[in-house]
Amino acid sequence: MGSRLLGTGIYLPGDVLTNNDLEKLVDTSDEWITTRTGIKERRIAKEESVLQMAKIAGEEALKNSETDPSDLDAVVVATLTPEKRFPSTACLLQAEISAKGFAFDISAACSGFLYALDLADSMISSGKANKILVVGVERLSEVVDWSDRSTCVLFGDGAGAVVVESSEGPSQILSSKLYSDGKLWDILYADCDGFIKMKGRELFKIAVRSMEEACREAIDEAGLNPRDIDLLIPHQANLRIIRSLAQKLGIPEEKAFINIEKYGNTSAASIPIALHEAIKEGRLRRGDNVLLTAMGGGLTWGAMVLKY
Ligand code: UT7
Repeated sequence: MGSRLLGTGIYLPGDVLTNNDLEKLVDTSDEWITTRTGIKERRIAKEESVLQMAKIAGEEALKNSETDPSDLDAVVVATLTPEKRFPSTACLLQAEISAKGFAFDISAACSGFLYALDLADSMISSGKANKILVVGVERLSEVVDWSDRSTCVLFGDGAGAVVVESSEGPSQILSSKLYSDGKLWDILYADCDGFIKMKGRELFKIAVRSMEEACREAIDEAGLNPRDIDLLIPHQANLRIIRSLAQKLGIPEEKAFINIEKYGNTSAASIPIALHEAIKEGRLRRGDNVLLTAMGGGLTWGAMVLKY
């Protein structure tokens, strides 16, 4: 039994915080942020809760999948900014959309969506579930120290979702490689009720190296070659990381989906937002080979190849 991706959905808050706005908050400049990160603006959830964002993205994914919530067997939410300490955001979302089955959150920071999708695929392959709603959602503006210029310029809020279902045909998920190294936890973390702390320069090097390795393994396990990849959808943490990764893999930059300029780093929401936009913009068509990759707090990282 394989898995296939049905519809996707997203939610992005209406409030836009530009680099020029940030110049008034901390000692930074549009020029520094643009050249070092590729980010021009990010969305900030002033009114919207994590649950509300997850609900709107989830409902759009269900609609685009022609799936009734009562047909879901599970709801999985990847987030580092849960609505409450407990119950899980997934349980709250299950109630909001009147879904059946079981629900739980995944804590794998920026790699959370990949972890959640891998797990959904495993649950479907093992026969435990037939249809699963997978959501990546973050309200990072609440865990950012707005006086710390080294982190506050990087992050944004948003949500993305996808419905995954069992398919009689071959699985769309060709390969998935997940990794973590807990010994490196203090390179990127936030204490309970604390702000994001990051050793940026150190993380940059690890990010490029570890995503490259995971991508090579995932491509290899899928029986493909980097030139067979039609679209690379990387976690949107830094444009320079994305460019360096594509170059090391020998994938032309035009084949990398990039929306970091609009949203910054939205952690677990970053890949599903990009996936949705790639589909809507016609950059990703049925039958294409797509490579997803992420790296984040934990440290966690991974890569996945899909035949969309
Ligand atoms: O989502 C999880 C994965 N996340 C990542 O992979 C992030 C990885 N790291 C990065 O993306 C980059 O390291 C950053 C964008 C965070 C920083 O870029 P960098 O080129 O590594 O800069 P840096 O930290 O080495 O700082 C260079 C200079 C420093 O000044 P000095 O010491 O050279 O005088 C910083 O104080 O830039 C300064 N700086 C800033 N200047 C203006 C740091 N932040 C800012 C800022 N505006 N916002």
